[in-house]
Amino acid sequence: MTEDKTILEIKNLKKNFGKFSALKDITFNVHRGEIFGFIGPNGAGKSTTIRVLLGILKKSSGDVTIFGNDVWKDTVEIHKRLSYVPGDVYLWPNLTGGEIIDLFLKMNNNKHSSRTDELIKKFDLDVTKKARTYSKGNRQKVTLIAALSTDAELYIFDEPTSGLDPIMEEVFQQEVIDLKNSGKSILLSSHILSEVERMCDRIGIIREGKIIETGTLDEMRHLTRSQIIVSTKKAYLKLAVTHMCMI
Ligand SMILES: Nc1ncnc2c1ncn2[C@@H]1O[C@H](COP(=O)(O)OP(=O)(O)O)[C@@H](O)[C@H]1O
Ligand SMILES: [Mg+2]
Repeated sequence: MTEDKTILEIKNLKKNFGKFSALKDITFNVHRGEIFGFIGPNGAGKSTTIRVLLGILKKSSGDVTIFGNDVWKDTVEIHKRLSYVPGDVYLWPNLTGGEIIDLFLKMNNNKHSSRTDELIKKFDLDVTKKARTYSKGNRQKVTLIAALSTDAELYIFDEPTSGLDPIMEEVFQQEVIDLKNSGKSILLSSHILSEVERMCDRIGIIREGKIIETGTLDEMRHLTRSQIIVSTKKAYLKLAVTHMCMI
């Protein structure tokens, strides 16, 4: 078992919805103590992969383990050590944000703590309002506050900042960096590379249900370096342009 270094392992994961093959071949690991960015355009298969990891969807084939345990068979054990924010956030419309945060915490055997209050303040959320009055960003704040005030070993966030304004995105990113600095592991999905490249130790790029690249940003910059050679009449000019693009 490679649990020491690897906290999450996906090997040749496939997932079909009827005849449609949403995940064709997903293989990557998340190491203990790192922030792993799971990057790819809309519809690439990020949420489907994460739903398999969370034991919500059953894989068609492949091996998927967290803490060395099978994500489908050992879901209860895994979830005791995991905290996550799903991509589609559903909140009870007639409960207030504060009630829902406490409910999420209770469902995971946690309690409202001073850390919860600190996060409510940082994310500037009015917890007295009913969820039906919340914007997408406020709904995301509710799930983020609950997830971040849970003490876990591994945190999984599925496009958590897509409805947040830039200031709140900064708050979130700082929280994730703090988690990492305290030894936690993080899987963070996004469809915007620039949003996460600053924080991630390694990234995996997914496209049309396949992982097309995994590594550190430096390794990928090397792989995708384009060289443009421009020659002029007077001098010979060589320009090396390094760029990273979402393929
Ligand atoms: N329950 C489902 N039934 C059928 N197709 C699905 C289902 N869930 C996702 N898909 C399809 O699988 C593909 C990957 O979707 P998803 O994992 O949500 O992508 P991402 O999160 O990267 O935007 C898309 O083509 C989507 O339409
Ligand atoms: Mg998604």
